[in-house]
Amino acid sequence: MASQSNPPESKHGNAGGGGMQIISFANQKGGVGKTTSAINCAAGLGMRRQKTLLVDMDPQGNATGGVGISKKQVRISIYDVLIGRYEAAEAVMPTSYENLSILPSNINLAGCELELVDTSDRAHRLKNALDTLRGFDYIIIDCPPSLGLLTINALAASTGLIVPMQCEYFAMEGLSQLVMTMRKVKNQYNPALMMLGVLVTVYDGRLTLSLQVMDELKKFFPNRIFKSVIPRNVRISEAQSYGQPVIQFDRACKGAEKYLAFVDELLAMRGAAPAGGMFN
Ligand SMILES: Nc1ncnc2c1ncn2[C@@H]1O[C@H](COP(=O)(O)OP(=O)(O)OP(=O)(O)O)[C@@H](O)[C@H]1O
Ligand SMILES: [Mg+2]
Repeated sequence: MASQSNPPESKHGNAGGGGMQIISFANQKGGVGKTTSAINCAAGLGMRRQKTLLVDMDPQGNATGGVGISKKQVRISIYDVLIGRYEAAEAVMPTSYENLSILPSNINLAGCELELVDTSDRAHRLKNALDTLRGFDYIIIDCPPSLGLLTINALAASTGLIVPMQCEYFAMEGLSQLVMTMRKVKNQYNPALMMLGVLVTVYDGRLTLSLQVMDELKKFFPNRIFKSVIPRNVRISEAQSYGQPVIQFDRACKGAEKYLAFVDELLAMRGAAPAGGMFN
């Protein structure tokens, strides 16, 4: 099974121009599909021949488990990298999925924000670590449900941000804080950070509420909603409990089909910056 080793070297690294893309899936709301989307985006990019690294920035370690890596297998985690104990390359693990590696997390990460609080480069720890890696086309970061230092590190290291959102009653709540954090990170740490779009997840077109929230989202984020909308699909949560991306678990199901369509939409955006908007 998977063991810790150096990341793959690839002659095709950064293919397609535009350099290595580093994309955070962030939203401080819990349970909106950040991890599910990060896992399937990363696995889908791998399937599309992009050398991809999934970075788990959540102490819950759901992205790590979601690509089939058990807690026992994680010897060196993102925590060890952020506090400077190990190099990023030493923590990268291969997965059983094509072109997909993981920088795993575990509960140790929960203490990281406190440990870093007095360091001057605390917002740039992840960026500095990822800068040392070679050979990846895409790095996909799964953020925790907060706007604390871990998410700030993720945004400071990223070229792009994707905000997963559910069409539920309180969907818009907290969005202004997210926008403010994104602006703050952009101004202070990372002027190149770009809002790539909102990914609507767990969508149920039979519900009037979903339709209403979708309309509201379209008004709030004109031209920033990914066309691929991820439906509510039980195969998606089943896949996660088996430690598999749904696009591998059941490629024919609606959830897998939409996640792959989303990946293709993302690949098509490469190099073509979306028009300016409220985030940028
Ligand atoms: N499209 C979907 N259809 C059905 N279930 C889904 C779908 N997307 C996610 N889920 C399930 O919803 C739950 C929350 O999803 P997920 O863990 O991806 O959210 P999250 O935003 O990462 O949560 P957290 O904030 O705790 O990190 C999981 O049990 C997941 O399997
Ligand atoms: Mg999560």
